Amino acid sequence: MSGASRRLPRLLARPGSSAPGIAPLLLLLLWPLLPPLRAAASCPCQDPALCQPIRNRPNFEVFVFDVGGKTWKSYDWSQITTVALFGKYDSELMCYAHSKGARVVLKGDVSLKDIINPHFRTSWIAQQVNLAKTQYMDGINIDIEQEVTCPSPEYDALTALVKETTDSFHREIEGSQVTFDVAWSPKCIDRRCYNYTGIADACDFLFVMSYDEQSQVWSECIAAANAPYNQTITAYDDYIKMGLNPKKLVMGLPWYGYDYICLTLSKDHVCTIAKVPFRGAPCSDAAGRQVPYKIIMKQVNSSLSGILWDENQKSPYYNYKDSAGRFHQVWYDNPKSISLKRAYVQTWGLRGIGMWNANCLDYSGDAVAKQQTEEMWEALKPKL
Ligand SMILES: *[C@@H]1O[C@H](CO)[C@@H](O)[C@H](O)[C@H]1NC(C)=O
Ligand SMILES: *[C@@H]1O[C@H](CO)[C@@H](O)[C@H](O)[C@H]1NC(C)=O
Ligand SMILES: *[C@@H]1O[C@H](CO)[C@@H](O)[C@H](O)[C@H]1NC(C)=O
Repeated sequence: MSGASRRLPRLLARPGSSAPGIAPLLLLLLWPLLPPLRAAASCPCQDPALCQPIRNRPNFEVFVFDVGGKTWKSYDWSQITTVALFGKYDSELMCYAHSKGARVVLKGDVSLKDIINPHFRTSWIAQQVNLAKTQYMDGINIDIEQEVTCPSPEYDALTALVKETTDSFHREIEGSQVTFDVAWSPKCIDRRCYNYTGIADACDFLFVMSYDEQSQVWSECIAAANAPYNQTITAYDDYIKMGLNPKKLVMGLPWYGYDYICLTLSKDHVCTIAKVPFRGAPCSDAAGRQVPYKIIMKQVNSSLSGILWDENQKSPYYNYKDSAGRFHQVWYDNPKSISLKRAYVQTWGLRGIGMWNANCLDYSGDAVAKQQTEEMWEALKPKL
């Protein structure tokens, strides 16, 4: 998902999938190699009706990534329409989400080299559908952040994978949803060149990761906003100009920021950063460290600068000094910067909004934190 996956180890594929639904002959041949077939799991929810897939079609998506733990109990369920489980499967979460009419979807990640083989695609998709069924889930979010060049066999195979995944899920699980994660701009960001229109047509919608926008910095190596307003919005115009229907786009916002160590920090708050190349660019946000909003909120009041606002990027930031005496600059998003982007979602009639990730807020119940957390959820709502 976020740039986190570029630097942090990816989560291991969830274990325990049962035999893929392949042809009986093949099944027989593979029989000795397969894990024992799971007995049809019984519904873990108190009310068995909650194991039914969600069929409603919300007018507006609020697409939430969850990375594990139990903070989900404090999310604003009056807004959520889909939760993508990027942590461990949690049946309690599934039952609860269903009781709120929200879909719960799998994480889909696969090696691009493998999917060139159509047989591999078929069996991978069968496994995902099977996993979703045994866990009473409502679809899959495909998150592939590997390099793709155009033209290449991977480029076409990826479009085919999305189409075949959508066809299978829609056929096998009523009301199910298949979505695909794309970078903040359709201009081959991080050397991920996709058939954007082909993929958008092939699935329910795209989750646009409007963050990590400094992953490839071609100009000056200075700290800058994770999701500068103008750059973010211009990229949606680019998607729409390519022919994508705005109803195929969900805007993904960051609930985390970047903490950079400044090599130099000028009086007017220009922070120069170390040159850390990424996929061809001389510097990148990999020079910084991702920090969740809850940590930022704990630190900002004791910072050197207090909250500053950059009018060009329409983003908050602050400077602080660490215990070793080094200056840092932290760029993040808050209700003010999020509301500005939210207004665009409304004006252009996008499919919805979402964030990486819902766990980033402080759900401890502490009075100040509670208020700040509520304001972040509030910022997702349309303004009249
Ligand atoms: C994108 O995918 C669509 C649907 O498969 C296909 O018709 C189109 O030719 C593809 N575009 C490119 C540039 O490959
Ligand atoms: C916003 O970005 C576009 C494209 O990069 C640029 O042409 C335009 O001047 C920018 N507008 C502002 C106000 O910075
Ligand atoms: C930080 O300062 C703001 C504004 O003065 C205040 O509302 C907030 O409670 C403070 N946060 C913490 C964690 O003390």
